[in-house]
Amino acid sequence: MRVPTVAQADIASARAGDRAASKWWRSLNGSWKLRVFDTPDSVPSTATNAVLNTDAWQSVAVPGNWTLQDTGDLPHYTNVQMPFAGPPPRLPERNPTGVYRRTMQVPANWSRNRRVVLHVGGAESVHAVYINGSFSGYGTDSRLASEYDITDLVVPGENTVAIVVMRFSAQSYVEDQDQWWMAGLHREVFIESRAATHLSNLRCDADLRVTDGVGQLTVTSSISFADTPERGWTVRTTLETLGGKRVGKPVVAAVPHAFYRAYIFEGYRATAAFEVADVAPWSAEHPNRYRVIVELLGPDQTVREVHAQLIGFRHVEVGNRQLLVNGQPVWIFGVNRHDHHPTRGKAVTYDDMRADLVLMKQHNVNSVRTSHYPNDPRLLELCDELGLYVVDEANIESHAYNTSLCHDDRYRATWLARGSRMVERDVNHPSIIMWSLGNESGYGANHDALAGWIRHNDSSRLLHYEGASFHAGWGDGGRLATDVVCPMYAPIDAIVMYGRDNLGDRPLILCEYSHAMGNSNGSLADYWDAITTTPGLQGGFLWEWKDHGLTQTLPDGTKRFAYGGLFGDTPNDSNFVADGLISADMIPHPAMREVAWVYRPVTVTAAKRKNVITVSNRQSFSDLSALRAMWSLHVDGELVQQGELVVGACSPHSSITVPLPCAVPDGNHDIALSVRWLQRRSSTSVGAGHLVSWDQVVLRQARRARAPKPLGRGDAPLTPVERLLTQPVSLNLWRAPVDNDGFKLTIDLSKQIRGLGPALGSWMLAGVHTRPADELVQHSVERVVGDDQSVTYHHTVQVPAELADLPRVGVMFQLPASFSEVRWFGCGPHENYPDRKSSAMREVWQQPIDSSPYLVPQEFGLRTDCSWFECIDKRGRVVRVESVGDSLLHFSATRHTPTQLFEARHDSELVRNSDLVVCVDTAHRGLGTASCGPDVLAQYRLTPGTYRFSYRLSGRRGVPASDDRKR
Ligand code: GAL
Ligand code: MG
Repeated sequence: MRVPTVAQADIASARAGDRAASKWWRSLNGSWKLRVFDTPDSVPSTATNAVLNTDAWQSVAVPGNWTLQDTGDLPHYTNVQMPFAGPPPRLPERNPTGVYRRTMQVPANWSRNRRVVLHVGGAESVHAVYINGSFSGYGTDSRLASEYDITDLVVPGENTVAIVVMRFSAQSYVEDQDQWWMAGLHREVFIESRAATHLSNLRCDADLRVTDGVGQLTVTSSISFADTPERGWTVRTTLETLGGKRVGKPVVAAVPHAFYRAYIFEGYRATAAFEVADVAPWSAEHPNRYRVIVELLGPDQTVREVHAQLIGFRHVEVGNRQLLVNGQPVWIFGVNRHDHHPTRGKAVTYDDMRADLVLMKQHNVNSVRTSHYPNDPRLLELCDELGLYVVDEANIESHAYNTSLCHDDRYRATWLARGSRMVERDVNHPSIIMWSLGNESGYGANHDALAGWIRHNDSSRLLHYEGASFHAGWGDGGRLATDVVCPMYAPIDAIVMYGRDNLGDRPLILCEYSHAMGNSNGSLADYWDAITTTPGLQGGFLWEWKDHGLTQTLPDGTKRFAYGGLFGDTPNDSNFVADGLISADMIPHPAMREVAWVYRPVTVTAAKRKNVITVSNRQSFSDLSALRAMWSLHVDGELVQQGELVVGACSPHSSITVPLPCAVPDGNHDIALSVRWLQRRSSTSVGAGHLVSWDQVVLRQARRARAPKPLGRGDAPLTPVERLLTQPVSLNLWRAPVDNDGFKLTIDLSKQIRGLGPALGSWMLAGVHTRPADELVQHSVERVVGDDQSVTYHHTVQVPAELADLPRVGVMFQLPASFSEVRWFGCGPHENYPDRKSSAMREVWQQPIDSSPYLVPQEFGLRTDCSWFECIDKRGRVVRVESVGDSLLHFSATRHTPTQLFEARHDSELVRNSDLVVCVDTAHRGLGTASCGPDVLAQYRLTPGTYRFSYRLSGRRGVPASDDRKR
């Protein structure tokens, strides 16, 4: 394996880096012919012949997954279980095998005293290459390139290439990641002509000497001679800025041509070393890069080829239980990213990757784990450019045989090849700070063998492997294979104990946490409270970036995103594949606001002293000058004053106090200061004016009187506002379960993962979803009509012990279809829940009715801690609900009843209620992350006992609302 640079004729072309412009490089992407056979054995020998009529074969796109290109062979989703019966290396009887064919032109000068190489970027699962009917070789790692020297098999002019791809192989057992099983050539294919003597690899080891800021670089150029090494070749290495300005002097080194000193000779390598004073270091905050230019000169001193490589100077180490980059601790604001596109599957384009990473940056994400395999090398170029720390993960997961294959000698070479080839390919990228040995594959000698190889080859980065500390212990376990303790889904208590009680000297960085399946990410802010206040804890990688929904066209022509099972795939793990922070088509789920907030670079909090606030800079290398702070003062939620906050100098990892920018008004009001930080100038990923960070500081909380004793006539005739209701007020204890409550599509799976019966199971047993609420609990309601025709409802609900942990206690009613907007004073503007509301600000908000954001319908749209809310219709009618007494209310207003949401198995089946369904709660269960991780924390659950709540319902006229139909 080598670093993927391309030979160019001169320095200008090398800088431009346009492979397609080189006369020695040709893409084979595009339309190929494909035929899929049932098994490898049923592929006729003629299928790979030099000449064959393929008119009847299908045309498909390469890169592409044939499972998404109408071949009849469909995607298959499983999580832990294999899609076919084992044990390894047994294969299923039906093992779809595709033969890809196309012709290619090989220019006459390509093979004259040169070599022709075919590059296959990635094929799932294994593949064999035939050139003009002759076997050339085979490749067995679906997520790294295989290259074939095809010089002796090609002829000048037209040639045929056939690539046979088997969907499953013995390698599938170490590619048992939680994702769709696909098939095909999903990465680029190209051919290249290399000179007989050429640069075969270009390795750059760039470091930052933290003590004095000197950048240190060693460039090692490996030269390949066709047969007999020749005397007189040299390599000229130049370091320059991105603008092309030379840094230091070019280094000219002779290429050794003989084993003249047997104990010193290390290969046909030329090295060049540079020291750069005051170098601009690389970090995710300041992704400064430089360019290395390597010219290969022949014995006649002419330049034969030129390669360019972008690099960055940075230093990674562990010190004082912290991961340090350039000597500074950095917060790992991470996400896990899979390659996924709803129609292209694994064949993501450069633009797809860029769009993912830009969206991450816009949400303050600073780190990516390439779960669970190396991505296309251009993803790493993008991380270098945009500024994201990367955990580069080897394509090894034996989940179904979790703790056995890591000891199995038949897979030893696989382990080593997959990890070492990844390192060899990606070693030049400054963005990579850790090498991951893979995922969920137990912990065995195969891991330590790979770890040993990597440590010898590249000691400049840390090793990361969850399984090592999981199976051998966080304290001191698995040290050979991991330099960080990187658990998945560990509860807050456990990580706090590790840090607080000094249970180990390695930094703890969660490799996966806060499972984002459906309406989720409860307690994300609690995680970050713990992380930022406990030594030894440094952050983690959310699971996961994107839902893996796949576009599926139904018989009636409508399209939807499919999850496991919807292609008829069995066995499957259903919608467990839809667990992203954004939908498959890149629409952020509401929890992304909470993510952006917990990952924000600057925080504002109440200070101990009066009339000042504390501003804290959580960045490691930047002051706050890139941001502009705007403040606004809210009295009972209404904006009364605003301006720009003057903030003094605040260096990285430090805090300053800032005087309050305004006086605090008198009176019994809710008074809050909101501070919003906006990007001053646009960067590569964030536009000017973008909202980067935000916080709200409560300056005073209004004293709320207890609800008055109900006085009045309970049997008074219905008031006009009550007559507006199309469904009257009724007690409501049920919410359409979120995935964390239990998997409604696969109740059994939910038990298997949770170990215990999930909340949903107990609710269903008690009949919370079917029985009238008034039968389940004791409930009394008093209704008091005021002189102004408003009605105050006073509810008392007794929840018995056996109904502990209910979804909610509240009421529900409906309003006519014309009601299409809501206005409220409470947490917003986005959806929020009791354990996911830190990012919400208590202000007055107004919005159209939300539509359901989740692939599998479930509870959505709550706004917590409201003093009041109003529903507004197109004629300007306003129905207002105001909390009475000392507690605030949560509400949602959607086009679906909990029953409709619960019954729909898929977004496409969801019935739209024409009337507006309004839920008002005094208590609502948190969200937690129990679909894979800790359940709702005790403080966000509903305890048995008495719930009293009161609210006033009134009507008035206002400004007409706009339509909410299919936005
Ligand atoms: C982890 C695993 C991920 C994914 C996740 C649940 O155990 O590493 O690949 O399966 O759980 O969505
Ligand atoms: Mg797994």
